[in-house]
Order: sequence, then structure tokens, then C-alpha cells
Amino acid sequence: MKKLILPIAMICLLASCGGGDKEKKDTPATDTKTDKPAEPTADLSSNPDYQKGLELIGGSDCLTCHKIEEKLTGPSYREVADKYAAMPDTIVTHLANKIIHGGTGVWGQTPMTAHAGLSQADAEAMVKYILLLKSK
Ligand code: HEC
Repeated sequence: MKKLILPIAMICLLASCGGGDKEKKDTPATDTKTDKPAEPTADLSSNPDYQKGLELIGGSDCLTCHKIEEKLTGPSYREVADKYAAMPDTIVTHLANKIIHGGTGVWGQTPMTAHAGLSQADAEAMVKYILLLKSK
């Protein structure tokens, strides 16, 4: 009698695992599509300020500390854009200077490293791109 219990238990286990697998396989297809809110970027991709800044940022080290939507070592670019959305254009110069010289104290105590090799014009192009990423 005892000998029978183990095989039966195994069969039950296998059967329930098999059922579980099938259910899992059905779900991922829907997840991948809804992953990101694509609309803002789709509209922006034709904007020359967006293109230029994106290219410059991609070629620098910015993305080791910043992501568009999530805080990393530095604030997310969306947070930065939202914070300065209502500011006059001079904010572009100010933020470009901050990228070139580095700084701390606005978002916390972690400093941003200096980017002394960047030209003012390139840094401003990066800022213009970042400011386009605002959520509202
Ligand atoms: C070593 C990590 C690091 C790198 C690399 C980095 N940042 Fe930052 N960044 C930070 C941190 C930390 C802050 C927040 C500074 C503060 O609180 O004042 C910040 C803040 C900013 C801000 C907002 C400044 C403010 O005063 O609100 C902008 C804009 C910015 N970074 C753009 C860039 C760009 C563009 C690059 C690439 C050229 C870059 N960052 C590279 C860490 C980094």
C-alpha cells in the first residue's frame, strides 16, 4: 500500500506543474506591449532639439547616472524636466553650466561629476532634450 502513495503523489505534482506552465505561457505577449507609454517619445522624435540632445547624451556618460523615468544616482530626466517646466529659458544656460561644472544640493547630497570637456552649446542641447521629457 505504502509503495503506491509516492507514485501517485508524483503524478499529481507533475500534472499540476504542467497546468501551471500553460497558464504562464499565455500571459507574456500582452505584457511587452503595454510596457512603456510610447506617445510622448513618438511625438518628440521629429523635434531637432530632441534628436541632437539624445545623440549627445548617448555619446556621453550621462546614462550611467540618469534614466528617463527612474531615479538612479541622479534624478530621472522626467523629474528634472517637471521641476523646471515653468522656468524661463535662462534655466537652460544655468543647467548647462551645472552639467559642465558638476554640483550638488538640489536633489540631495550626491554630487554630479563635472563634464569639463563639454562645450556650452552641447550642454545646452542636452538640457533642451531633457526639458522636452516633462510629463505634463
Ligand atoms: C556620476 C553620476 C552623474 C553623471 C555621470 C551625470 N549626472 Fe547629472 N546629476 C547627477 C546627480 C547626483 C544630480 C543631482 C545634483 C544635485 O542634487 O544638485 C544630477 C543632476 C542633473 C541635472 C539637474 C541639475 C539641477 O540643478 O537640477 C541635469 C540637467 C543633469 N544632471 C544632466 C546630466 C547630463 C546631461 C549628464 C551627461 C553629460 C549628466 N547629468 C551626467 C549625477 C550624474
